[in-house]
Amino acid sequence: MNYKRNILITGGAGFIGSHVVRLFVNKYPEYRIVNLDKLTYAGNLANLTDIVNAPNYVFVRADICDFETVCGIFRTYGIDGVIHLAAESHVDRSIKDPFTFARTNVMGTLSLLQAAKVYWESLPERYGGKRFYHISTDEVYGALELTRPDGVRSDISAHMVYGDEFFRETTRYSPHSPYSASKASSDHFVRAFHDTYGMPSIVTNCSNNYGPYQFPEKLIPLFINNIRHNRPLPVYGRGENVRDWLYVEDHARAIDLIFHEGKVADTYNIGGFNEWKNIDLIKVIVKTTDRLLGHPEGYSDSLITFVTDRAGHDLRYAIDATKLHRELGWSPSLQFEEGIEKTVRWYLDNQAWVDNITSGEYEKYYEEMYGGRRG
Ligand code: NAD
Ligand code: TYD
Repeated sequence: MNYKRNILITGGAGFIGSHVVRLFVNKYPEYRIVNLDKLTYAGNLANLTDIVNAPNYVFVRADICDFETVCGIFRTYGIDGVIHLAAESHVDRSIKDPFTFARTNVMGTLSLLQAAKVYWESLPERYGGKRFYHISTDEVYGALELTRPDGVRSDISAHMVYGDEFFRETTRYSPHSPYSASKASSDHFVRAFHDTYGMPSIVTNCSNNYGPYQFPEKLIPLFINNIRHNRPLPVYGRGENVRDWLYVEDHARAIDLIFHEGKVADTYNIGGFNEWKNIDLIKVIVKTTDRLLGHPEGYSDSLITFVTDRAGHDLRYAIDATKLHRELGWSPSLQFEEGIEKTVRWYLDNQAWVDNITSGEYEKYYEEMYGGRRG
């Protein structure tokens, strides 16, 4: 079959990537979707069981740092669009092991850019009709002040905001963690490839995502699982840090829209207009999980445990996503209360998915399938 487009999605076996792959495979049968993933600890093909047999879906297990292999994938599948999500994504891991983050996030992105450049420049139409879309984070902007510690309603948000400043597309990069430093570096490489070679690139910076299939080391799935097992809920510092939460399917919808209609060389911030202090969010998770488990209210409150703060813990993230709304008409579709209810329910209904990861069982499956250890 001749496909209208051949799109390479990297990191498609991870949390956000699996939602993007699912959306594209189902919505665009006329596109071939090639999912390139190394299957590190964070990659899990069980995230994609519902689309694995779709005729327009191909999975390739590879490392984005392996330049020759990536070049081969561009040629074999005639790739004309890239949505790049593969990355090391957990801040706490980046504090312990920054090298892996520099390798995958910086060198891996460079390897992908160079492979796209070599392949697209070899074609008669060169960059015509091509897209290199890089998915990044709001963490590259650094941290905002908590000038409204008790929260106020603001013009840009229906929800509470905890400061007077917001991250805008024009905000200067100021990353603090090894994770955000590596993402900032990769963003700069993507823009440099546009400015130097004419690579038709787009970068988006999104706030914290939540929803199904998130690896249970991240706050929300970790805490739901710990409540289920009656284990302590480790709150870093005093739980005063603020994050802006977006339901993962709303992010995937934004990615679809921007891939098709975003302006080349431009940047868009994506966020939920949904700021929460960690401790307030945690109380909502505890309350919702207790209710859905049939526990009396307050049953798991005593699991909340304040622990040593994360090193260099950014105080507040808050995205102003007005540009994306104004130019492309996007806004989040789910109210947070609805999103968190759906999310807690999903983790409780899919305990086997979580247990398979926490028991390490999923690692054995990959060893049997692919031989040897995973990266
Ligand atoms: P994730 O950790 O759940 O998934 C990452 C995926 O990348 C995994 O499937 C993993 O196997 C794959 N991968 C890692 N190293 C690789 C390599 N060298 N070669 C090929 N594949 C490799 O991450 P996520 O939370 O889904 O994040 C996806 C992207 O979105 C990342 O670029 C992240 O920086 C960005 N982002 C995440 C959030 C968030 O809240 N999770 C917010 C904004 C932006
Ligand atoms: P996380 O899900 O790791 O996302 P990020 O660090 O990229 O924002 O953490 C979200 C917030 O929750 C962050 O402020 C750190 C905090 N946190 C805890 O308090 N305890 C935990 O066990 C974890 C994983 C995170």
